[in-house]
Amino acid sequence: MAQEVRGVIAPGKDEPVRIETIVVPDPGPGEAVVRVQACGVCHTDLHYKQGGISDDFPFLLGHEAAGVVEAVGDGVTDVEPGDFVILNWRAVCGKCRACLRGRPWYCFDTHNAGQKMTLTDGTVLSPALGIGAFAEKTLVAAGQCTKVNPAVAPQVAGLLGCGVMAGIGAAINTGNVGRGDTVAVIGCGGVGDAAIAGSHLAGAAKIIAVDIDDRKLATARTMGATHTVNSRECDPVEAIRELTGGFGADVVIEAVGRPETYKQAFYARDLAGTVVLVGVPTREMKLELPLLDVFGRGGALKSSWYGDCLPSRDFPMLIDLHLQGRLDLGAFVTETIQLDEVEKAFERMHHGDVLRSVVVL
Ligand code: APR
Ligand code: ZN
Ligand code: ZN
Repeated sequence: MAQEVRGVIAPGKDEPVRIETIVVPDPGPGEAVVRVQACGVCHTDLHYKQGGISDDFPFLLGHEAAGVVEAVGDGVTDVEPGDFVILNWRAVCGKCRACLRGRPWYCFDTHNAGQKMTLTDGTVLSPALGIGAFAEKTLVAAGQCTKVNPAVAPQVAGLLGCGVMAGIGAAINTGNVGRGDTVAVIGCGGVGDAAIAGSHLAGAAKIIAVDIDDRKLATARTMGATHTVNSRECDPVEAIRELTGGFGADVVIEAVGRPETYKQAFYARDLAGTVVLVGVPTREMKLELPLLDVFGRGGALKSSWYGDCLPSRDFPMLIDLHLQGRLDLGAFVTETIQLDEVEKAFERMHHGDVLRSVVVL
């Protein structure tokens, strides 16, 4: 039987979010209903509210979530009621060329739940990133659920559903950072800090944090940065070269998403080094580079899609490392809040005061 629960809705472009009663159907074939325990507040939720992602209002916001599977539909075998899971944006098909080549993050045929959640008047809701987890319960495709060790606090586990996984994965999956490498991370918000933590975990010898805000650089140190550069005060490319014996870093991770920082990343890498682009630019942004530099500098330019993560491999591993005290995921949780505080959390995010506000239910 369909259930009624509370959820946070973005009703229309730039309108404040509000709590509404939402209707969650029973899981159909291949679907699961998850009792949400925690869900982080991400920039993408704010972009949905601002109408920057799609016009399909109303949105059910929230997508960095962990919780317990309550019910599953026919044919679901990977998870069962009672499992503690982290949600990811899309279930992959397992059959397309990308999936078969072991790169499911490029799957051609991803999907979310087939049924729709609605308001009590029948208005269909669009769940943010196919999740919609600022709600007591949500309906997802079963393939969006990954079982992890239930000993972890839900507010910590949920972080791997988006920004923190994107940052850690940019370092360990896309950048392939290894022991002894030199790494520079441009932009030290939640994503950049996670890239720093991932580089530290991977054994990087030098981790250079670059930001325009000294408060962010102070936090970056606690995440494992060995050097900091304020790019308001100097040329970060020069600074990174100086700190790496004149060569540039083996891996440069861009976590801002602007033309000038893309350019800095391009020039701050060692000749054979790797640039990892994880900051998401807007449609209008353009980058102009001398072709001779593109040709002559060698190395690799890679963009990182959701940290190129494999949820079934990466989520349980990172949670285990956290539980062993080897990766402090808890450091990303600035505050825990209630469902009715999401609007306030957006304001704090806008002022750059928090790494993550996490709604606990
Ligand atoms: N040079 C260096 N750092 C900068 C610059 C700049 N020109 N402009 C902004 N920054 C810093 C900010 O001070 C902040 O610390 O970049 C950081 C951005 O952090 P957040 O706004 O918290 O964003 P975050 O959640 O970390 O995401 C960063 O990654 O996945 C993408 O969509 C996401 O594009 C976004 C990026
Ligand atoms: Zn596929
Ligand atoms: Zn997100």
